[in-house]
Amino acid sequence: MNPLKDKHVVLGVTGSIAAYKAADLASKLVQAGAKVDVVLSENASRFVAPITFQGLTHRPVVTDLFDPQSELYIDHVALALRADVIIVAPATANVLAKLAAGMADDPLTATVLGSTAPLVVAPAMDVHMFDHPAVQENLARLRARNVTIIGPELGRLASGLMGTGRLVEPEVLVEHLRMLLGKNGDLKGKKVVVSAGGTQEPLDPVRMLTNRSSGKQGYAVAQAARDRGAAVTLVTAPTSLRDPVGVRVVRVTTALEMRDAMLAASEHAHIVIMAAAVADYRPTNAAQHKLKKTPDQTSSLELVKNPDIIAEVQGPFIKVGFAAETQDLIPNASAKLRAKGLHLIAANDVTATDAGFGTDTNRVVLIDRNGTVDQLPSLSKYEVGHRILDRVLAIAAMERHAG
Ligand code: CTP
Repeated sequence: MNPLKDKHVVLGVTGSIAAYKAADLASKLVQAGAKVDVVLSENASRFVAPITFQGLTHRPVVTDLFDPQSELYIDHVALALRADVIIVAPATANVLAKLAAGMADDPLTATVLGSTAPLVVAPAMDVHMFDHPAVQENLARLRARNVTIIGPELGRLASGLMGTGRLVEPEVLVEHLRMLLGKNGDLKGKKVVVSAGGTQEPLDPVRMLTNRSSGKQGYAVAQAARDRGAAVTLVTAPTSLRDPVGVRVVRVTTALEMRDAMLAASEHAHIVIMAAAVADYRPTNAAQHKLKKTPDQTSSLELVKNPDIIAEVQGPFIKVGFAAETQDLIPNASAKLRAKGLHLIAANDVTATDAGFGTDTNRVVLIDRNGTVDQLPSLSKYEVGHRILDRVLAIAAMERHAG
């Protein structure tokens, strides 16, 4: 279900100092399962040697249309026809001008012109170049032709200037490609709402009650749904994670705020997945000012129950919850499935080292209303997201059949 798996990606690299980041991009694309054909402009190969890309992709790198060793020497549109997507990163002002004009005087621009695959460009250049009307006009022409333009970002540039011109981080570019390649996936037209992170319940202006949730599993579910074509809303408590590409993010802090956001977001939803770690209780009265210590040796805190959000959120959608357990995983999770009216629950033992809070992997047991128990192996949280969505689609198909 990973949309990059076995896809042919043509990565065009042009002569910007950011070319070194293209090596990382190539590596990340290969790790995501793509077959990456790198085409270097003459100037790009002054910044990074072809052998760097060859080593990362295990495939020949094209630098010259007329190199007898190159596939393009025999068939100049070989890469163009094979490509599922073409990305030019970094894209210089020069290559933008060539692409806008429809030139084809080097292997990269010839490949772009000879291909019907979607084209993505990630510009990188100094701020004044980027601001130049010629560059802006070229970008507008490309945009009008449905070329996806990503970035550049604001930040410190190689020249030392601060401004817009930085190449978007490779990790983010990979996300864009996943989303683009997955846009006609099996969740196309579906509205998916996901919650993530641990809620924070204030005690006073400087203290709060919270938990160890990192938000990673919820963010990964949101990304997986996006990569299958869904319109995704992510309701998130504070985390250190960056916003997923192409996902509507609603930020909340407390359980009460999360409830309101979930009720609003789940209207017209097809799937609601509650991965957030919600505080079961909050301080009855959050103090206006910082609480002072007293001479007493003990102190106690009065708490009041928070609403059970996923139990309250109701509608004609498929409802999925998580169960964080430290013991009796399956009976506890099955009881939660019933009590909260869920279709599916993903239970994990949060004491395991390869599962639960803060890790990049998770080992969950999926339990449905029929009592089917599916123990998944240790997987990346993104992969766990896909497995949950596979099951959700199967449940939706069964419900359609029954109803
Ligand atoms: N949940 C919720 N609202 C709450 C508490 C939990 O929506 N106030 C959701 C969680 O997001 C999760 C599921 O309910 O999808 C189970 O959460 P978990 O913390 O495992 O269980 P609790 O219901 O809080 O039960 P307990 O803490 O007693 O184990």
